[in-house]
This record gives sequence, structure tokens and C-alpha cells, in this order.
Amino acid sequence: MFETQINAAKESFLKLLNEQIQRAERIAAGGKAKDYTAADKVVVGLIDGDGIGPVIMAQARRVLAVLLKEQIAAGRVELKNIEGLTIENRLALGKAIPEDTLAAIKQCDVLLKGPTTTPKGGVMESANVAMRRELDLYANVRPVCIPEKGIDWTFFRENTEGEYVLGSRGVEIADLLAMDFKVTTDAGTRRISRAAFEFAKNNGKNKVAIVTKANIMKKTDGKFTEIAHEIAQEYPAVEASDWYIDIMTANLVNEQIRSDFQVFLLPNLYGDIITDEAAQIQGGVGTAGSANIGDQYAMFEAIHGSAPRMVEQGLAEYANPASILKAAAMLLRHIALYNEAGRLEMALDTCSVLVTGDRDGATAKEFTDALLELL
Ligand code: IPM
Ligand code: MG
Repeated sequence: MFETQINAAKESFLKLLNEQIQRAERIAAGGKAKDYTAADKVVVGLIDGDGIGPVIMAQARRVLAVLLKEQIAAGRVELKNIEGLTIENRLALGKAIPEDTLAAIKQCDVLLKGPTTTPKGGVMESANVAMRRELDLYANVRPVCIPEKGIDWTFFRENTEGEYVLGSRGVEIADLLAMDFKVTTDAGTRRISRAAFEFAKNNGKNKVAIVTKANIMKKTDGKFTEIAHEIAQEYPAVEASDWYIDIMTANLVNEQIRSDFQVFLLPNLYGDIITDEAAQIQGGVGTAGSANIGDQYAMFEAIHGSAPRMVEQGLAEYANPASILKAAAMLLRHIALYNEAGRLEMALDTCSVLVTGDRDGATAKEFTDALLELL
């Protein structure tokens, strides 16, 4: 019984294992992060995405053009439109990222990307996940800050492994069972842990919370915690603590203790889930930015999705551009344009009183008009 399926699954598993061993070895060989303080020219790729993506990206373009006017004129920064990363095009070509689009992306240094639609089920992989893998964007950095509540959190989510790396390549025995795979590598855990602890050290933070479900996911999360603690040894001024993801989701809404947390270090899926929760506490997923950082490339995006429901209800124009603009500020900081990043962040702080999202509020364009006045 099931012999054919079992053999097919074995063969497929062997292939996955070999691929993952190679990936682990590639990571272990290491990379060196680009130094933007020494760059002559930075190419910034702009990707619209789907749904409300083009609406908020149009506003991000306006803001970047104003902020980077001098750098663009002097040829130090180039803004480049990247075409073709739309759900229609991706489905037509059967590719998570069409080849020519990926080639254009690889000509850039950093990217600002609107949300892309991820088809549920089927075989089409999420463009986001494919991009994180293709560009090896291993650190997903998501800040959430609510000064009046004493909250200043920065999440370091591992961005290339865990449930995501083989998420589209599980095994299924029809009408009987399905299995997905989760992968944690030593080198992959080391580099994200180092990113979190380095950030803590360089930003006056003295606490990193390591969040897993190592009591259940013994091999993968067990490894993650163990290695994170090993790396913690290199940072004696930073205190590492161990948490399970379930209680941590409760802690974030526990007003008694939540402001004690500073930096979070988590495997991919837990990081995905808890950062939506954190963004909601800040005022909604439309308010948070997200950085996907690798050694060679970095991609900045809104934390939210393409909001097809808003589009269906004719509310696309009212999409909140705050999240993509926060991502733009993170991009500017990443390429060492600290002044410009600071100006944008300050203007965003002031504008966040403007409510968007439905017909009673400001449109994305009105929000940005107000913001540009402040720049
Ligand atoms: C995110 C998103 C993505 C993810 C989706 C769109 C694949 O939810 O960036 O958090 O799960 O990582
Ligand atoms: Mg998410």
C-alpha cells in the first residue's frame, strides 16, 4: 500500500536534504555586509506589488524624490522602477518572481517593495519568500515603538529558514495526510542571533528575549535556543532570556511587563505572527515597517499584505502609506542617509494623527501631502 507515494516522498526528501545541506554550507562559508558609508552610488529599486501596493508606492516615490533630490541630481542615488512583480504576471509565467524581474532586482542594492499577493494553496510560492531566499535576506527587522506606553521593541525574525524554506515543498498522500518541513541550520541561527545581539549592543539595549517553542519543536527550536545562547556569551553586557512563543504573545498585551522587553530574537514563523500582534498594539499593521536584510542586498516593505478586501470595497485610495514610509525611512538609514531618515521619521510621527483606512479618513495622497509640507 502507498508504495509509489512513499517512494516518491523518499526521493523528494533526499533531494530536499541535499539542497539544505548545501545551503547550510553556503551560509557557514559566510558573507561580508556591504558598507554604504563608502559607496559611490546606491541603486534603489522600487516595486509596486499588488492590491493597495501601487497606491502606497506612488506616495513613497513622491517622498523619496523630495528627500533624495540632491543625491539623485549628483548621481549618488538612482531610483529605479522594477516592473513585472504582479500577481497576474507571476501566475501567467508560473513563477514566484519572473526571471527578468529577478535579474532587474539583482542590479539594485536596496529595494522598497509594496505588498504582493500570496495565493493560498496551490504550488505558487509567495514572492516575498522567494525574494528573501533569492537575495538571502536573512534578518527581518521590525521595530514597534509606542513612546507614551514605554514600548520600544525591535524584533529580529530569522527570515530564510524554519517553516518557510520548504513551505511549498511538503509531502501529501491524497485523502490521508500531509507533511511540511521545518529547517534550522547552525550557521543560519548564528547569523540572525549575531544581528540581534549586535543591534542591542550598538543601540544601548541590554536585553534580548529569545523566543521559541523548544519544548515541542525539540530539534529545530532546540537548536535555535542553544545557538542563540552561545552567541549571547559574546555579549556579556546584554542579558539573554528564554521564552516560549505562546506566553510571549500574552506578554505583549500584559501592560505590567511588556515595556521591559527590548529586543526579540525568533525563528521565522513565530516572528511572522508576533510582529503582526506587535504592530496591532502600535495602531495596526498599516503602521509598521519591515526590513529584510542580507549581506549583499536589503529589501524594505510594509508589514501588511495587499489588502484585496480594501480594493474590492473601492477603498484602495484610502490605504495608509505610513507603513511603507516607515520602511522607506529604514531603507535610508540602511544606506547611511541618517539625516534624511531622521527627517522622514519626524514627519511621520507628526502625521500619524491623520487617520486613513476608510472614507472618513485621509487618502494616501492627502496623508502624503501633509507629510511633504513638513519635510
Ligand atoms: C510578512 C508576511 C509574509 C510572511 C507573507 C506575505 C508571505 O506575512 O512579511 O510578515 O509570512 O512572511
Ligand atoms: Mg506576516
